[in-house]
Amino acid sequence: MISQNTIQQILSRIDIIDIVGTFVKLKKRGTNYLGLCPFHNEKTPSFTVSPSKEIYKCFGCGRSGNSISFLMEHEKYSYVESLRWLAAKYNVEIEETETSPEFKQQQQVADSLFVINNFAQQFFSKELLEKEEGISVALSYLKERGFREDTIKKFQLGYNPEARDSFTKAAVGAQFNADLLIKSGLVNERDGNKYDNYRGRIIFPIHNQSGKILGFGARIIKSNDKAPKYINTPENEIYVKSKLLYGSYFARMAIDKADECLLVEGYTDVISLHQAGIENVVASGGTSLTPDQLRLIKKYTNNLTIIYDGDNAGIKAALRGIDLALEASLNVNLVLIPDKEDPDSYLQKVGAAAFTEFVAGNKKDVILFQLGIALKDAGNDSNKKSIVVNQIAETISKINKTEDFTKQQDYIKQCSQLLKIEESGLHALVNKFIREKIGKEETRNERAAFEQASTPVSETDNEVMALFNRDEMNERAMVRSLLEFGLKEWDEHQKVVDHVFKEIEANQLEEMIDNKDLVKILNTYKAWYDNGIEPDPKNFLYHDDLAMSALVVSLMDFNYEISPNWKEHFEGHIPTREELYKEEVFSTLNYLKLRKIKRLIAENQLELEKAVDPDEQMVMVEMHQHLKSLEIELTKHLGTVIFR
Ligand code: UTP
Ligand code: MN
Repeated sequence: MISQNTIQQILSRIDIIDIVGTFVKLKKRGTNYLGLCPFHNEKTPSFTVSPSKEIYKCFGCGRSGNSISFLMEHEKYSYVESLRWLAAKYNVEIEETETSPEFKQQQQVADSLFVINNFAQQFFSKELLEKEEGISVALSYLKERGFREDTIKKFQLGYNPEARDSFTKAAVGAQFNADLLIKSGLVNERDGNKYDNYRGRIIFPIHNQSGKILGFGARIIKSNDKAPKYINTPENEIYVKSKLLYGSYFARMAIDKADECLLVEGYTDVISLHQAGIENVVASGGTSLTPDQLRLIKKYTNNLTIIYDGDNAGIKAALRGIDLALEASLNVNLVLIPDKEDPDSYLQKVGAAAFTEFVAGNKKDVILFQLGIALKDAGNDSNKKSIVVNQIAETISKINKTEDFTKQQDYIKQCSQLLKIEESGLHALVNKFIREKIGKEETRNERAAFEQASTPVSETDNEVMALFNRDEMNERAMVRSLLEFGLKEWDEHQKVVDHVFKEIEANQLEEMIDNKDLVKILNTYKAWYDNGIEPDPKNFLYHDDLAMSALVVSLMDFNYEISPNWKEHFEGHIPTREELYKEEVFSTLNYLKLRKIKRLIAENQLELEKAVDPDEQMVMVEMHQHLKSLEIELTKHLGTVIFR
């Protein structure tokens, strides 16, 4: 874990204008900065960044957050990845803390798995290159398929002999822990007997970015209906299929240089292309691309070329990942290999030069390709056609980064021509999907608090705020006034924070706050304050409880600022919130008390209706009168008292 000290150092250097400005062109406008929103498509800027509050908000799509949530949302980083990115940017050396026992345990398992995999790779390579069985069964097979020995060595291919437990014996002999061997997927156990999982198979080690072995793919040699063609490492502490791309270790430099990443399906495709000098190639293992894999690719290039065999079911899987790729601003092209060949076999058939030429000459734009297939399928059926229109609009809606605006417009034009529909109609449909998507994401968002802060579609702020009911507005205002003014003086004896918590406790107001995340903020504030820490809104802004930090962002929104236009329209002095802070604290607390009284009155009323004993009734009537007078008193003061 990153130490608290490091986090503090990072946070103290955060400059939201600098960070957001890395990705969005910002212009100064008054005290804030303004730019085109990177989260939705717009022509006039409504994306506002406040350097003093260290938050951003888009008045078009409603997204808001701080520097870290910006990185999480825009770059799809995790919280920790964002911190690491910031540390690198600001040259903060990361200091790792004493980690939790569970984490340590996990690290140890991961380390051991790497050691076991390394041992296994050496064992398997030796079996392939030096032992009789391996040479005659496996090496001969690989050579027959055209793989040279230097290629085999570079990719560290190996062989696991037929015998029941040749690897297991070697590993146990080398003192490796039996549970870890099973976890690695190299060894299986049945009825207390351990045996090799990859018996009689060719072994393809799978490397991470730095060349360490995460796991293996094991290919059967003679095809067999009963056994699967490949057995792969089960998911464990280091082998996480969704995060790896086969070949990325060997491809990264070439991808960078060519500014293009080729994506194929299989291990042998990668190796074959490599051998032919086409080194910017990785494999996904036939499944659709995941966000982690896309991120890996995007580190090196924005150009992805998918090379698949033409009539393969895998292409559907590949296309499923496409929307994600478009969303990540990747330019995606598709090359279909003809004649029931795959990249490996086609390359072996036609040779490297012809293969390269074929790839270069047969790149199809992936969106237009998809549309072509769908249109062919739909034929003259107008129902099916309208489904196609919707699908393509949805796909185009994913190309929605600001820098992709022209690209999106281009697609709308080309697709509407292919579809023979009005360009403006497709345009409207695409925009509808963009709005829907933003709405959906907000609901899906684990940081539920964001939803409260922002509504999906562009509406004016008054409308947005009207969506909250008054009770909730008030709860939020109360907590907000504490966050902002808590450390200011209340009277000569105490600070605002002291007064607020005294009031909350004396009147049991906590139970009146419906939003329990607000209660969490209150409690955290109090805990910090009681421990001698001065709670600064910024501590909340970057709290690793993301729900809480998102809520604080939304509390500190721009909504409360007096607009510069106002100032122009009014002569003389307009008191600021800062000047009226006591009134704000007073009236928000009062409002909560009033709600409490109203509830007590209602409860008392119910009791009264049920009561039969006249004495009892009398007490309740008196109670009612007492509560009523309190209510009147509170209402009278609500928002009208100004402390001097
Ligand atoms: P293919 O069946 O196309 O195999 O599967 P291949 O890579 O071309 O291998 P060769 O040329 O026949 O030797 C493509 C990829 O799908 C995954 C593997 O990653 C494979 O490389 N796969 C396939 C499995 O994980 N399990 C299987 O049973 C089959
Ligand atoms: Mn193949």
